Amino acid sequence: MGRPEPRVDGRLKVTGNARYASDFPVANPAHACLVTSAIAKGRIVSFDLDDARAVPGVLDILTHETVGNEVHEPKFFGSGGTASTIHRPLSSAQISHAGQIVAIVVADTYEAAREAAYRVRVTYEEEDAATTLDSDGVETLPATKVRKEHKNPRVGDAAAALRAAPVTIDAVYETPTQHHNAIELYATTCVWSGEQLTVYEPSQFVHALKHAMAEQLGIDAEDVRVISPYVGGAFGSKAAVTPRTALVAIAARRLNRPVKLVATRAQGFTIATYRAETRHRVRLGAQRDGKLTAYVHEGWEATSRLDDYLVGGTETTAHIYDVPNVSTRVNVVRTDRATPGFMRSPPEVPYVFALETALDELAEALDMDPIELRRINDTRNDPITGAPYTSRSLMACYDEASRAFGWRRRNLPPGSMRDGDWLVGWGCATAVYPTFMGAATARVRLARNGATRVEIAAHDLGTGAYTAIAQTAAERLGLPVAAVEVLLGDSALPAAPVAGGSNTTASCCNVVAKACDGIRRRLVRAAMRADRGPLRGRKPSSVNFVDRHIAGEDGAKVSLADAFDMLGAPMIEEYAHWLPHGMEPDALKKLHLGSAALTGGAMEDRIAAAFGAELVELRVNVYTGELRVPRIVGAFAAGRIVNPRTAHSQYVGGMIWGIASALHEQTELDRRVARYVNTDLAEYLIPVNADVPDVQAILVSEEDRLVNPLGIKGLGELANVGTAAALGNALYHATGRRIRKLPLRIEDVL
Ligand code: MOS
Repeated sequence: MGRPEPRVDGRLKVTGNARYASDFPVANPAHACLVTSAIAKGRIVSFDLDDARAVPGVLDILTHETVGNEVHEPKFFGSGGTASTIHRPLSSAQISHAGQIVAIVVADTYEAAREAAYRVRVTYEEEDAATTLDSDGVETLPATKVRKEHKNPRVGDAAAALRAAPVTIDAVYETPTQHHNAIELYATTCVWSGEQLTVYEPSQFVHALKHAMAEQLGIDAEDVRVISPYVGGAFGSKAAVTPRTALVAIAARRLNRPVKLVATRAQGFTIATYRAETRHRVRLGAQRDGKLTAYVHEGWEATSRLDDYLVGGTETTAHIYDVPNVSTRVNVVRTDRATPGFMRSPPEVPYVFALETALDELAEALDMDPIELRRINDTRNDPITGAPYTSRSLMACYDEASRAFGWRRRNLPPGSMRDGDWLVGWGCATAVYPTFMGAATARVRLARNGATRVEIAAHDLGTGAYTAIAQTAAERLGLPVAAVEVLLGDSALPAAPVAGGSNTTASCCNVVAKACDGIRRRLVRAAMRADRGPLRGRKPSSVNFVDRHIAGEDGAKVSLADAFDMLGAPMIEEYAHWLPHGMEPDALKKLHLGSAALTGGAMEDRIAAAFGAELVELRVNVYTGELRVPRIVGAFAAGRIVNPRTAHSQYVGGMIWGIASALHEQTELDRRVARYVNTDLAEYLIPVNADVPDVQAILVSEEDRLVNPLGIKGLGELANVGTAAALGNALYHATGRRIRKLPLRIEDVL
């Protein structure tokens, strides 16, 4: 494990000096406000803009009548593009979801823009909208029909194995719509300087946003620059390019003046993506000793009419236990809603909830400890392909978590632990996240005095990327972290992957280390070839960079400054690119074009994933049904941990969000009109300190020599996987009542 360095950007953030997208000062900006659709399906008959235009300071009102074909059709990210939807904003009178952008008002002040937006009157012709999975009018299709590349993992003969199994489970699970609700709102500022466009927008993928703007506006990509050094939360919502950006760019071009948009929180629920609701039927077959013989998982995922979004299905769950017969199938349900998208651990959160709850039901049926059931079905190989895990520490995680939790004292029968008016339940579940990596490039410059600058168009979503990257360069070059300056979040920097799939640390630290190694080679060669000097004639492999020196094993050393003098240069700059295992060489070219392709997880020749074990105590009030979570323990293994402090923070945050997700979090739909009801932060219930008094994250050490040169697995999205199942399982243990639908609510308990 690396050193628990404090965040290098911490001071900037707590003093308000970290610039988020809407903080950048631009000269004489005009302000934009969106008008969004009041219906979910139908068409706009007419606009009445007179009142809106009468507001002093209004400069322009863009509608489909004035924008029309100005935005070219975006390429959907699910089909190799970059956009959250193929919808062309303000291109027609057609409405395909509630809250769709129908106009954008631009004015001298935000207040004037907002007032005018309120005064825009739209007459609609409304049609019946299909809201969710079992609404009238939805269209259900196999995922393989919707997207040809989709694979439903399967092996053996699951149907026969189910029939033959002495113990079986067959149950249906459901998970709701959820929204990311990052604190930083969806903001975009566009500034034109002649042909050149600068976009300030919080982004998980600046190179994709750059290329998307070029495509959608029909301009040269080299004329677009995207700046996003800090992102105030994203969770997947700022990865794909949303329709608003092109509209702001068009408004700015028309006015020949910078235009700044900060969408309202309510608008954020409909102008960006969200977590799709899902349903699952899971069937398990097992022998009496707990050995799984069959796993059958059919999923249904809601999506829009326009786009072929897939949550991801059983890509993860099919590969994690030793089951000889697996059969999975995913269906897509088209509704009259905006297109869903990535939200923290997109397939894992819902699909693992279903599997890990079913496993708890199986443990109950077998009268077996649920951790023991997972031990019996642990594996070193992918059950589908037989390929080995690069490393896997699931049971080590369970061992450490159960020791810390005191799991041995668990009384087995449900309802057997009580403390006064509270029924007490203990539950567990597995957390898992596939290890993804992407092609990456970076530039590192080292000066004679040790000052180092790392340039990489990666993204820090609040996760600690600045710090992990600085640490990697500092360690490689034998410098203090303070000597390293890291520049991120700017499309003018060398391209790095989308900050998605928790790949940033693995991809970026590996490429930065590679660039540092290039610098080392040049300095070492100079020191070894120098006529004089203590390292003359040594082998390159026999020296290391420590404490601003190149040091031999015997203590002989040359200072960095002397090595630079031997080289005869004041500084070295190295550019490096890195391709992870299994990635085609053309991935670098595609990366520069904004491709979000990642590699990893279950591959033909190997499988890589980070694991964890989450154990929770849940209390249920016998009179009111109130649910409390006095403690949660998670133990996680994710290869080499670059920074245990930021990793710990990710784990704690992930588990707390997992608790929120399981107990509170649901975007409520008015099913009659396919509109969201609770589109604000006030009703987005998140646990505060009193709700989560004891959250313990244990970092289990794990060495992985295969996954990538530095042995790093991503962990950002790991810890909220499994939390919901652990809580539901604890609720069952407390009460004897199995709730198979999230969130777990008092009304279901009563
Ligand atoms: Mo994360 S949902 O892969 O941005």
